[in-house]
Amino acid sequence: MATTYLVTGSNRGLGLEFSRQLSARGDIVIGTVRDVAKAGDEPGHAPTLVPLELSDPASIETLPARVGDRAIDVLINNAGVSSDARTLADVSMGEFQRVFAVNSFAPVLITRALLPNLKRGSRKLVVTVSSQLGSITNNSGGSTYAYRGSKAAVNMLSVSMHNELKGEGFACVVVHPGWVQTDMGGPNAPLKPEESVSHLIRLIDRLTASDGGKFFNYDGTILPW
Ligand SMILES: NC(=O)c1ccc[n+]([C@@H]2O[C@H](COP(=O)([O-])OP(=O)(O)OC[C@H]3O[C@@H](n4cnc5c(N)ncnc54)[C@H](OP(=O)(O)O)[C@@H]3O)[C@@H](O)[C@H]2O)c1
Repeated sequence: MATTYLVTGSNRGLGLEFSRQLSARGDIVIGTVRDVAKAGDEPGHAPTLVPLELSDPASIETLPARVGDRAIDVLINNAGVSSDARTLADVSMGEFQRVFAVNSFAPVLITRALLPNLKRGSRKLVVTVSSQLGSITNNSGGSTYAYRGSKAAVNMLSVSMHNELKGEGFACVVVHPGWVQTDMGGPNAPLKPEESVSHLIRLIDRLTASDGGKFFNYDGTILPW
C-alpha cells in the first residue's frame, strides 16, 4: 500500500527531490510551499500542494484545515533557511529569531499541528532535516552562530518530541542530508540532490520505533550530538 508523506519546502532543493522520488515509486506526497501557483509550474512537483509559511504561527496552526483529515504516515520537516550571521559582529536578535523560527520552532509546531493526522498513519514517523553543523561534538570551525544554533536546537527538540510521543508508537529522528548541491548548499557541494535523497529515503524506509531519538547521517550512520 502507498505511504503518505508530508514534505515541507517541497518547491525546490531537497524537498522537491523528495517529492519526485517518492511520487515516482507510487507513494502519496503532500508538499507544502509558500507559493502554490509558482510551485505548480515546477516539473516533478508534489501532486498535492498546500500553502505554508513556516515563520507564521497562524499559517502553521491552520495547516490541518488545508491538509484535511487524511492520515499522514511520515512527516518530513525539510524546509530551512541558512544565515549570513557567521561572526559575533554579524549576529543580531532579529537574525537569530528569523533563523530559529524556521529551523527550530516550526518543525515542532508543525508536528503538533499534524499529530491527529500522524496518529492515524501507519508509521508515526517524524523526520526533521537538521545538519551536521548542529553537532556540538563536531563543531571545530566555530562561528555560523544562527544556523548552527538553530540546528543544535532542533536536534534537542526532536529528542524531546520523541520522548513525549514514543509511548504512542512514534519515532522522531533528525537527519543530516550531506553537503548537497541546492540553493543552500551551493554548486561546490559534492552530493547531488538525487544522491542525498535516495540515501535518505532508503534510511527512512528502514527506520523503526527503536531508531527514534537518534541523529542520522544520510548514509545511515549515527552522528554525535
Ligand atoms: N544543501 C545542503 O548542503 C544542506 C546541508 C545540511 C542541511 N541542509 C538542510 O536541508 C534542508 C533543505 O535544504 P535545501 O538545501 O533543499 O535548501 P533550499 O534549496 O534553500 O530550499 C529551502 C526550502 O525551504 C523553504 N523555506 C525556507 N523558508 C521558509 C519559510 N519561512 N516558509 C516556508 N518554506 C520555507 C524554501 O521555500 P522558498 O522557495 O519559498 O524559499 C525551500 O523550499 C534544510 O533544512 C537545510 O538546513 C541542507
